[in-house]
Parts: sequence; structure tokens; C-alpha cells
Amino acid sequence: MRIGIYGGTFNPIHNTHIEIAKAALAQFQLDRVYFLVAGNPPHKDTAENIPDTCRLEMVSIAIQDEEKLFIDDREIYRAGKSYSYLTLTELKEEYPSDEFFFIMGSDSILYFDKWVNPETISKCATILVAPRLGDDEEAIRNTIHTFQETYEGEFKLIDYKANGIASSIIREDFYNNDDTRLSLKQSVADYIIEHNLYSAHNYNYSDILKLSEEMKVALKPGRYIHTLGVATTAYSMALKWNYPAYNAMVAGMLHDSAKCITDEKRISICEKNNIPISEIEYRFPHLLHGKVGAFYCKDKYNVFDEQIAHAIAVHTTGCPAMNLLDKIIFVADYIEPGRDKQPRLDILRYMAYTDLDKCVYMILEDSVEYLNSNPEMVDPTTIDTYNYYKKYMKERG
Ligand SMILES: [Fe+2]
Ligand SMILES: [Fe+2]
Repeated sequence: MRIGIYGGTFNPIHNTHIEIAKAALAQFQLDRVYFLVAGNPPHKDTAENIPDTCRLEMVSIAIQDEEKLFIDDREIYRAGKSYSYLTLTELKEEYPSDEFFFIMGSDSILYFDKWVNPETISKCATILVAPRLGDDEEAIRNTIHTFQETYEGEFKLIDYKANGIASSIIREDFYNNDDTRLSLKQSVADYIIEHNLYSAHNYNYSDILKLSEEMKVALKPGRYIHTLGVATTAYSMALKWNYPAYNAMVAGMLHDSAKCITDEKRISICEKNNIPISEIEYRFPHLLHGKVGAFYCKDKYNVFDEQIAHAIAVHTTGCPAMNLLDKIIFVADYIEPGRDKQPRLDILRYMAYTDLDKCVYMILEDSVEYLNSNPEMVDPTTIDTYNYYKKYMKERG
């Protein structure tokens, strides 16, 4: 087989990556191209608060309908730096009768002689150079020619006219410029939004410690312990479901921040700030602690992330079509380690890490059953949410 290996951070994968892979497939009669997702590359800082697993998932989503495109995740799991010569040597050993073609961007080829063991790379694979927008094609050809003279092996230019934008621009502009989303598959753009990637608001452990101190003062001791339980459960669930984990922890930390204030204060905060109050919330103002907690995010705790505020606002009732963080906080609030009165806790704690939508639905079932015995307390949003997930689960099968 003739196999293309396309290395990169793919942070995120965009249409140009796919088009380059397809151009290489056609021009060099390749049987397949593997996207080799870099783990800890020596040349680039990929951290940018994006979990490696998110980059892997985005590549998987982007190629799911492509017959000849595959993913290779070995560099994500390998210890140490992601040196290409190691990967290519491994591949050569694993598939001795296959012929390899290593695809790299024209920006990388300029520094090829600075890579670790470039001679091993060019010996293991034909190097295919992918042009980038604004390239001086003549200069690239000259560089290729020089390396062709210096190293054993072949260097070729992929016949492709680059017109897309770079991943770095997508990361910077994703939320400000709708055009950037056009350079991505819709499914990848949806993933970025659902997982809150490239957001301007990324939190770290010192933010958590600071908020924890503030909650210790704002909450009664039992509520504070519950809060720590929700924050740590949200953190572990976020790791499982590939959501920025400290952001989830911030949401857990602040979800009940408006729990230990008076009903009068909750109502007056809502009235002063044009936060709508429903009829049931007027009757049972403690139900407002989600909405007021969301307001407190910006107003009191300098947390400006919209997904965090939304998850806090809906954490008591849920809402139809919850996003990923909404679900994490809704579930974490119900299953945190201090809970012991809810039914089915063992199975719910298991489902929280295996089937999140089903877990949400099971919690709603139990909530509706509980509320049926206290009908005067039923918030219509809980019923709407229950009906939405009942239909969703039925259709999902
Ligand atoms: Fe709450
Ligand atoms: Fe809570």
C-alpha cells in the first residue's frame, strides 16, 4: 500500500487539511492518508488549554464520512516529545512492505534540516510538501531542490492552491468572525461550540482555590461541602466528556453561590436587574438561586464565561436541549459524593461517565416522580425538560 502520513497539531482540523490530504491521495495515487495527531511536538506549543482528546475527536468527526482518510493517535499516547523520525521508523517496522509519504506544510519544510534526524525521515518516506496561502512557490521549489541534494530520499510539491485560513486564525477569531467557521466542517464548528474551545475565558487551579475561599465565606458549612463535591465531580466528568475541566469546576464552585441569601434578596436582585421571575419562582423564591447565581458570576466573582453562567442558571430544573456543561453541572449536583437520599445513585454515578444523556433523563424521571407527590412545587421548566429528554431518548433508541 501507498500510505500518506499527515502530521500536525490539528488545532483545529479545517477544510484545507482535508483538501490537502485529498490532493495528495489523487496526485500520488495513495491508498489512504493518516492524520498523525501530534502529542507534544518539539516545534510548537500546542497546549493552549485544549485537551489533546479534543483535537483527536475533532479529526475523527471531520473524517467520519471520508473513505480514505484515517487517524493515527500514537503520538498522543507516546511518552516524551513527538519526533517524526521515531513515528516513521516505527511505521516502517510495523509495515515493512508499505510505501510511506510524509505530508508537511511548506512552513515546516523551510526548517526541515533543524528537525531531529531529518535524514531518517526522508529515508523512511517521500516528503510531500503542502503549499500554504501566500507562499512564494519559487522559494519553496528551491528549498525542496536543496534538500533533495542534501538528503537521501525524494521531496515533492503537492499540486494544491491553498486558499483557506490557518488554525491559529480560527483559534483567535472563532467567536468574533462567522467566516472562520466556514473554513471548518459544520460538525467540527459545532464541536468547538459545545466544548467551549478557544474561548477567551479559561480558568486554572489558582482560580479554583480563590473561588473556593470565597464560597467558604458566602455559604453555610454544609452547602460549602456540597459545593466542593459538585466542583470535583464536575471536574472528573469534564475530563471524561472532553470539556475544559477547570471551567466545569468553576461552574460547580459557583452553582449554589446564591443559595445562602434571603428570598427577599433573591427577588430584589432579579427585579433590579431585569431577570424575569416566573409565577412558581415568586411562590418559591429559593428556585431563583440558579438565575441569581448566574448573575453573581459576572457581578461578584469576575467569571464572564457565558456557558458557565448558563449552566448555573439552569442547574435546578435543567432545560430542553442542554449543552454539555449544562448536563455536567445538572448531573454533578445530583450525584456528588455527599448525596445519599436520591434513588438509584449507584447506577446514576455509573451512567454519568458512560451515557450522559441517559443519566440526565434518569435524574429527570426521578425528579418528576418526586415532584408528583408535591405537585404545588412543580416548576414547568422541569416538566418541559423531562418531556424533551423523554422524546430524545425514544428517538435515540
Ligand atoms: Fe442548587
Ligand atoms: Fe447544589
